[in-house]
Amino acid sequence: MCGIVGYIGTQQAAPLLLEGLTRLEHRGYDSAGVAVLGGSGLKVAKRAGRVRDLADGLPKRFGGKIGIGHTRWATHGPANDVNAHPHTDELSRVAVVHNGIIDNAAALRAELADDGLVLTSDTDTEVLAHLVARSSAKTLEQRIAEALGRVEGTYGIAVAHADFPDRLVVARNGSPLIIGVGDHEMHVASDLAALVRYTTTVAHLDDGEMATITAAGFSTYRIEATGLAATDRRAKEVDIDPEAYDAGEHDSFMHKELLEQPARAEAVLRGRLDERFGTGHLGGLNLDARELRAFRRVKVLGCGSAYYVGQMGASLLEELARIPADAEAASEFRYRNPIVEPDTLYVAVSQSGETIDTLLAVQEVQRKGGRVIGLVNVVGSAIARQVDGGIYLHSGPEVAVASTKALTNMFLAFGMLAVQLGRVRDLSIADGKRLITGLTRIPEQIDQVLATEADLALVAKRLAEAESLFFVGRVRGFPVAREGAQKFKEITYRHAEAYQTSELKHGPLALISPEVPTVAIVPDDELVERNVAALHEIAARGGPLVVVTHDSVDLGDLESLVVGRIDVPRNERELDPILLTIPLQVLAYHAALELGHDIDKPRNLAKSVTVE
Ligand code: F6R
Repeated sequence: MCGIVGYIGTQQAAPLLLEGLTRLEHRGYDSAGVAVLGGSGLKVAKRAGRVRDLADGLPKRFGGKIGIGHTRWATHGPANDVNAHPHTDELSRVAVVHNGIIDNAAALRAELADDGLVLTSDTDTEVLAHLVARSSAKTLEQRIAEALGRVEGTYGIAVAHADFPDRLVVARNGSPLIIGVGDHEMHVASDLAALVRYTTTVAHLDDGEMATITAAGFSTYRIEATGLAATDRRAKEVDIDPEAYDAGEHDSFMHKELLEQPARAEAVLRGRLDERFGTGHLGGLNLDARELRAFRRVKVLGCGSAYYVGQMGASLLEELARIPADAEAASEFRYRNPIVEPDTLYVAVSQSGETIDTLLAVQEVQRKGGRVIGLVNVVGSAIARQVDGGIYLHSGPEVAVASTKALTNMFLAFGMLAVQLGRVRDLSIADGKRLITGLTRIPEQIDQVLATEADLALVAKRLAEAESLFFVGRVRGFPVAREGAQKFKEITYRHAEAYQTSELKHGPLALISPEVPTVAIVPDDELVERNVAALHEIAARGGPLVVVTHDSVDLGDLESLVVGRIDVPRNERELDPILLTIPLQVLAYHAALELGHDIDKPRNLAKSVTVE
């Protein structure tokens, strides 16, 4: 989704801004632009397409040591040169880049038009440039605060102004902004990915905060109705290896991140398992045993893959802790005026920690007095800061749009939470120990699945030929099928539909044909016989079958009909879903590779979805 960069210092800004924008490409975008402030005033270059197109078309004389840049993911108006950011006022003295959505943009545009102004773009952002330019307040900060006072909605903005050539001003409300401190220079970005090459000393702005940035440092304020009140935000060192943002010898970040899973899985489990008492050791929950025991229900909230793994997590919690649990799409939750009960534990799941739908769902729960814990990857992100406690996922930066290693660690975090919650309820110490042993085996077992990549690539090649596919599973296997279909459609652009195996005969069986393969999740569990029977119904209609299963499962005479059999290592039944998910990630990756798609930047998608 949209990305912001900014620079002020002793070097030429444009090359640094372009480099920063390249590092934000993975977030998804359709146009890009930069503005620099130099001796001859403000210069802007922007265009639809890739950052490299922007770089190729940049005028030779584009000097200036202050600048802002943006990658846009269209919301108001199509992706074209005019709608790309930065936006400026009529005299090109103010340049603004903006992430988020201004809800009252139509009214503000109409007001400006009534005043005789001809707006040049279709965007909500342009109004900000005009509002800042029209303010007669003394300082740039006051002008921006005045403009923001007129705006309803979410924003992360960076502003350069020709009349204030010693500074950039940034502000945040619902869309992340980070300041990076360099040596006689300062950087700004909406994502750490754009900063870590230059500095790991950073300050995250809070919602409602503004910052003035000069080459020598920064100062922050809270935007209040009565004016600007200074805040005491300090920069801190973040523990991030810049190499994490480099794909190295891999053809894509997705491939790199797939293979990182065993190591990252070990990282999320490290120090959090109590083998002696067969329980989890999750200090960050901020809930003691008595409080944990008092919950009567668990509701998991997340979007997309985080929602599907939330379904896996809810079923783990229900099975191990014997507490009613379900998952719901966070994007829908707050629109149905949900009943929030004090004895329900809410669990928000998010890799980025910035997904606006999930953040708003968390706030809705808290507004109604509910308690929310977070399973979040990005440290210091909006959701991480909003929740009442939680578990960091320690996946390291996830760059590819398609989530893999973060999703795996979400499952493992649910595993630990379920054991800990179970142990303060009715889970026996023996069962607790059994599951802890199971959890510790998972990294090695993921490695075993990944070692079969070459075989999986052959199956993927076959699946890539189909225009349409089914992914089916039952009970624990159904969210696995949903996640498998999600990953497949995201990066192959094939139609992949997930269904409960048991529901096929109630409708979708009509679509089964030799052209429509089915990927079936068939673990060796209490449902194996029923699962295998359903596969016969598919095979009888000529539907090609790929079966993801355990080597102990006897497919009988189906064996000769399956076009691919994928055996994954067995763990405890409750923990099997994640091991069944890993080959589906690899299948999606290899099918997309076969089809020649840009795996890390699937069309129309963004890494972190910061608009509703
Ligand atoms: C799928 C995918 C998305 C995200 C979803 C939530 O591979 O990545 O479906 O899972 O947009 O994102 P986070 O986890 O950042 O809240």
